[in-house]
Amino acid sequence: MLYYLFSIFLMLTTYLVLKRIKTRHKQIMGTWFSYMWWGGDPDVVNPVSGLTRREIHAVQKSWAPVNANSFATGSELLRRLFNTYPDTKEYFKMVRKLPEEEYSQNPQFKAHVINLMTSLNLAVNNLNQPEIVAAMMTKLGESHRRRQIKEKNFHELKEVIVKLFIDVLRLDDATLSAWGKTVEFWYKHIFVTLNSPEETR
Ligand code: HEM
Repeated sequence: MLYYLFSIFLMLTTYLVLKRIKTRHKQIMGTWFSYMWWGGDPDVVNPVSGLTRREIHAVQKSWAPVNANSFATGSELLRRLFNTYPDTKEYFKMVRKLPEEEYSQNPQFKAHVINLMTSLNLAVNNLNQPEIVAAMMTKLGESHRRRQIKEKNFHELKEVIVKLFIDVLRLDDATLSAWGKTVEFWYKHIFVTLNSPEETR
């Protein structure tokens, strides 16, 4: 009888230990797979950008359709900026006297659309190398300071970008929040040189 009870106890213990090992193995494989997939812990915040790998992925994924239609989206963005904040148009000498219908034919308007979208595309694609993006943004701050563009104008542009993204892309809250942090990261570095009285080169 004692032997019989002992055998049952042994079988039960073996079963529980094996079950525990299987669950742990599954967890380890899941974590390992997640690490391989993300190239590291997806939820660790990068100290330079303030973004996690998961947030960068959300931003890059939502940017893909914008970039596929880059010129149209960029034109719409600038058009909305000029309509919502007419003062911003004043910086574009060749455009400021033009009616809206003629923007799309104007080389300066087209050039800034292409410049803006190319620069944003580089800044999105390189988010996994935040030191490089920070250096790009510092340069951008310098070039825009020379044009007398103000921090306020950048905030106006940000507001228009977020509104356009909500209207066109219908982003979920997590992606919108990731975008908010991304623009915050870019602007932090733009503003260092935009607001500096001296060339930082
Ligand atoms: C994140 C936001 C922005 C990005 C990525 C961006 C990007 C660029 C780039 C790449 C250029 C050409 C190269 C250079 O001069 O640096 C440029 C030129 C210019 N940008 Fe921006 N820009 C931004 C915001 C603004 C804002 C807020 C304004 C003013 C409302 C502005 C006005 C101009 C003007 C007037 C030029 C010169 C256009 C020309 O001479 O044809 N930009 N921008």
